[in-house]
Amino acid sequence: MTNSPRTITIGLLGCGNVGGALLPLLEQQRASIAARTGIDLQVAKVAVRSLSKSRDVEVPEALLTSDAAAVVGDPGIDLIVELIGGIEPARELILAALRAGKPVVTGNKELLANHGAELYAVAAENEVDLLFEAAVAGGIPIMRPLRESLVGEPITRVLGIVNGTTNFILSRMSDAGASYADALSEAQTLGYAERDPTADVEGFDAGAKAAIIATIAFGASVVAGDVYHEGISKVTSADIAFAARLGYVIKLLGIAELVDDGNADHKAPEVAVRVHPVMVDQNHPLASVRDSFNAVFIEGAAVGDLMLYGRGAGGPPTASAVLGDVIDAASNLTRSTYAAIGDLPRARIQPIDNVRSAFYLSLNVADATGVLAKVADVFGRHGVSIQSMEQEGLGDEARLVFITHEAVESNLQSTLRDLQQLDVVHSVGGMMRVIGS
Ligand SMILES: NC(=O)c1ccc[n+]([C@@H]2O[C@H](COP(=O)([O-])OP(=O)(O)OC[C@H]3O[C@@H](n4cnc5c(N)ncnc54)[C@H](OP(=O)(O)O)[C@@H]3O)[C@@H](O)[C@H]2O)c1
Repeated sequence: MTNSPRTITIGLLGCGNVGGALLPLLEQQRASIAARTGIDLQVAKVAVRSLSKSRDVEVPEALLTSDAAAVVGDPGIDLIVELIGGIEPARELILAALRAGKPVVTGNKELLANHGAELYAVAAENEVDLLFEAAVAGGIPIMRPLRESLVGEPITRVLGIVNGTTNFILSRMSDAGASYADALSEAQTLGYAERDPTADVEGFDAGAKAAIIATIAFGASVVAGDVYHEGISKVTSADIAFAARLGYVIKLLGIAELVDDGNADHKAPEVAVRVHPVMVDQNHPLASVRDSFNAVFIEGAAVGDLMLYGRGAGGPPTASAVLGDVIDAASNLTRSTYAAIGDLPRARIQPIDNVRSAFYLSLNVADATGVLAKVADVFGRHGVSIQSMEQEGLGDEARLVFITHEAVESNLQSTLRDLQQLDVVHSVGGMMRVIGS
């Protein structure tokens, strides 16, 4: 005789791109989930902003409501899925659910990157799950690997292509020779970029994800405001072409790096977290991540290098990540257990000025004798050592292209400032951080 499955009722808050894809996926998988886990997942209420809006997904009228708080407070609902987005009312709703002892699944990167520590602490106090696989890199499982499989791993650095819009734009610039403006406009036509693309192209979205990755990878709270970011709007076709000639591909990377684990002097970990365009060696696995795909590359002292690749956004891929969390939270609930992140110390943040990187620098200089010696002297004065140099003639000018060894950011910036003071340097063609193979 088989036991009948235990029903777990779900209150879904938000039925847009992701919520609207979750409903049919859940219905399609419901029997197989019940067979595998002994849990019957039943959506009991769906809260939306507008009851009259026409929707691609059919939602029975009896389930729809515009009162999200009532869904959270409904004693007949066991588990809350928050897919509204933004800070409020999502934050208040999640806190109320956690305080009522209800596990919460969310994909809300903006909220977690700004108020994560508060939410993790309240989840732990109330001994319930707060799961958020969908918040970083959409359909790619990255939070659970970091929280579970790699929890004992001394992770040293995580590099992520975590914004599909910017990866699409940079891929079109590299692969089809498109200008930044044309590639952005194509991304908007295809629905990859918003009409106001600022959050994507200026690195805010990737910054929020980098903050969450750093928090979970290093076990110390990092917020969006800690993340240094530069976007891709200043990347030119000339930068792309130069990078290609030198054997690099330009990518917008979210980088979370452990500077000091703090164990020796009982301090919180010190981390450097940043988002900016990077010239990635064409032999690095991230260089082949094209179009709107995402990938997260993890470097660990014991495990070595790992890469997770896939769809970082879109309704169905993101709903897949949400459903995985829902099943996890539901089975924990039936076993009266939960997976806490708990109270995290505040991370110590290394300022960008102190971060070490290799750099690419291109200078337009006078084509005259002695120029190279003057330029090399400036590099030397600031302790920036040159790994390679190329020179080409441009009429009565010459272009010097340098790749440096790893140098401290502030030393590179002083080098740049002093180079611009030299009469033989006409202009700086470009400067970018570099990651090797
Ligand atoms: N889209 C993606 O590819 C993706 C990927 C990863 C993570 N995420 C995250 O997933 C979350 C949802 O994204 P989405 O793209 O699905 O957003 P969306 O399409 O804008 O949907 C938002 C939903 O929330 C509802 N809503 C808004 N305010 C509400 C309120 N006060 N009470 C009840 N419902 C309310 C809206 O109702 P109406 O339908 O009536 O307007 C809509 O159904 C966000 O946190 C987002 O960052 C999205």
